[in-house]
Amino acid sequence: MDDNKGLKIVLIVLIVLTIIVFAAITYLYVFDDKDNSSKSNYSKKAQEVMKEYNIYNTINDKEYSKTLEAILEEDLYNNAYLNEYYNIDYSSIPDFPNIITNLLNKEYNSNEINYIIKNYSKDLNILLDMEHIDILQFKDITNFDINKLERYLQYQDNNTDYTLEQLVTYVNIGLDLKGYSKYVEYTSEEAKDYSILVNKYHKLPDDYEPDDLVSLSYNSTYKLRKEAAQAFEKLTAAAVLENVYFYPFSPYRSYETQKVLYNRYVARDGTEKADTYSARPGFSEHQLGLAVDVRSSTLTDNLTPEHYEWMLNNSYKYGFIVRYPKGKQYITQFMEEPWHIRYLGVDLATKVHNSGLTYDEYYDLYLETR
Ligand code: DAL
Ligand code: ZN
Repeated sequence: MDDNKGLKIVLIVLIVLTIIVFAAITYLYVFDDKDNSSKSNYSKKAQEVMKEYNIYNTINDKEYSKTLEAILEEDLYNNAYLNEYYNIDYSSIPDFPNIITNLLNKEYNSNEINYIIKNYSKDLNILLDMEHIDILQFKDITNFDINKLERYLQYQDNNTDYTLEQLVTYVNIGLDLKGYSKYVEYTSEEAKDYSILVNKYHKLPDDYEPDDLVSLSYNSTYKLRKEAAQAFEKLTAAAVLENVYFYPFSPYRSYETQKVLYNRYVARDGTEKADTYSARPGFSEHQLGLAVDVRSSTLTDNLTPEHYEWMLNNSYKYGFIVRYPKGKQYITQFMEEPWHIRYLGVDLATKVHNSGLTYDEYYDLYLETR
């Protein structure tokens, strides 16, 4: 009886022990499996490469990274970049592992690489073809154009006193190139837009002639496009009420007229000098029928400082801006012309006026489609 009881106890103890051992093994197995959950996400190929590089255990302890997996699968693993791989967001762009390897080799960090891939995946070659640059410095510059990167950097070398915003805008305008050396040529349809930018980098078609020119009341041979002419009448009438008199003396000029004028100036002063005050044919706002030169008396081709001040402070209310203001010659590429006003319409002229920018800058920052 006692023996039997003893045997039963031994059996029960054995069964309990077996259950404990089994539970322990199961627990350990589950625990172990949890611990290795990251590893189990990697593809077979990636796992094999991990083993080759002896990093199987190192990687096991960390979270799964699709970027790391892609690198391993392409056999591009470099131990020095292990942390960066974890911080680089995976992207499905073609050749992703090679691209990030190339960028890492150029000493771009994961932060820069994420930014580059997110914003410039279509223009990666530009960055892959050059040494490391501080790309994040352009992050908040809205008119930055990666296709002009080399030009920005070169211009930056030669103009260390400009802000980054200025550098980008000036290069976008074309100031790093000689005026007329490279320009956009508009169609006649585009030329009709009241906001069109015409300067040494933007040309009108030779045969462009506005189809809504009307005479100014001052002189019937003086013409502007209808809307600009009406606005000009309002401007002069408003000025008169403040005892400020403006006399138009050069409104619309055809391509041919501009050609005659420009050639005359070249003959008199030489090309270099003429280019500082007269636009070459096709490059003049006067051909738009939206620009007019005014003077404060018929005895001069200029404005008194008071007239100029009035124009600066009031012309936008009638849709005009002073197109070649004092002190902005390095941007407009023309000497100051207090007398030359350009019609843009009240809305746009007001915005340009409030921005304090030249139209060349304003256009690049807010109107240029990139
Ligand atoms: N004088 C201005 C720049 C023109 O010729 O259009
Ligand atoms: Zn003019």
